[in-house]
Amino acid sequence: MKKKHGIILICAALVLLSGCVEQTRYNPSDSLSVGSFDSKSNSSDSQSSSLDSQPGSSDSQSSSSDSQSGSDPNAFYSGTVSAYDKLNISNGDVLEIDDSFVCEKDGEINIEKGGVLVIRGDLDLSGDLYVCGKLIIEEDAKISGSGVIHVIDSFDDIECSGTVTAKIDAPEPVEIDGVTYVGGILLVNKKYGLPRNYGDGLCPEVSEAIEAMRKDTGFSMSLRLSSGYRSYETQEWWFNYYCETDGYENAITYSALPGHSEHQAGLAADITSTNTSYADTAEGKWLAANCYKYGLIIRYPADKVDITGYIYEPWHVRYLGKSTAKLVHDSGLCLEEFLEVDG
Ligand code: DAL
Ligand code: ZN
Repeated sequence: MKKKHGIILICAALVLLSGCVEQTRYNPSDSLSVGSFDSKSNSSDSQSSSLDSQPGSSDSQSSSSDSQSGSDPNAFYSGTVSAYDKLNISNGDVLEIDDSFVCEKDGEINIEKGGVLVIRGDLDLSGDLYVCGKLIIEEDAKISGSGVIHVIDSFDDIECSGTVTAKIDAPEPVEIDGVTYVGGILLVNKKYGLPRNYGDGLCPEVSEAIEAMRKDTGFSMSLRLSSGYRSYETQEWWFNYYCETDGYENAITYSALPGHSEHQAGLAADITSTNTSYADTAEGKWLAANCYKYGLIIRYPADKVDITGYIYEPWHVRYLGKSTAKLVHDSGLCLEEFLEVDG
């Protein structure tokens, strides 16, 4: 796992990822009292949710043996993952932090597949938190400390409803059949392309999201699909057209090269207009403020032109799913920053 300086700013569910500046907001807990441990699987799975002892930790050795005897987890769980200790929340286990909880520097919390960590109290995270299972950060949660949350699998495994600032480490991009994914999110931009034959239409989630927006606004606004799926060839045609009519240097600021458009992935939609002034209309404002609730983000924000490489496109939305779209929206980051990748 790489060590990047990701920043997760969860503001009503907010994750920031950035290159080098840490913006952790500290909410130091005055007391570090016992965190409550609600193991759904109790004795049968208690071994996997115990503190796995690592060399050099006498505390964790006793914790581990208590766990194996199947005793009440609260009896041995101190609310502290000490240095060199590893806490595994595995399949069927739920760790709920209602009060205060400390993961010391060099300590480690692993949320394995099927495991759940619910934070609604104070987590002083100075060690590492690896998320492969589910992480739920509730409204009253406070995460502080110098530790990093490492996302292993997918940002969709994080749910936030509170206001928390913590640091997150995005997964590395992986390429599968010529398509790049970061944390389960398909990435297509100027750097990362798609195979020529990729895509076969607009993903139903996109049209459903648009329909839901239209319905929720009482069909009173102009929120119609003006451009959805575009094949490689269609994108090529448009790109060449813009080059001929406006010149390559201009075209490249608003039209993706063939193989580099989110429209080819079927995950993007242009809503109503393709004019920057759409941002100033009631519809454009509503879209910018609300589309994340439907799983969409404004993909090319006005203040991220240098990163995305595209002009402000208040009409171009990208589907990410509701939880990830909320994280990205609340972060104030563009997708490249959020995923810690180049544009
Ligand atoms: N207008 C966006 C960048 C596209 O062509 O996909
Ligand atoms: Zn578009």
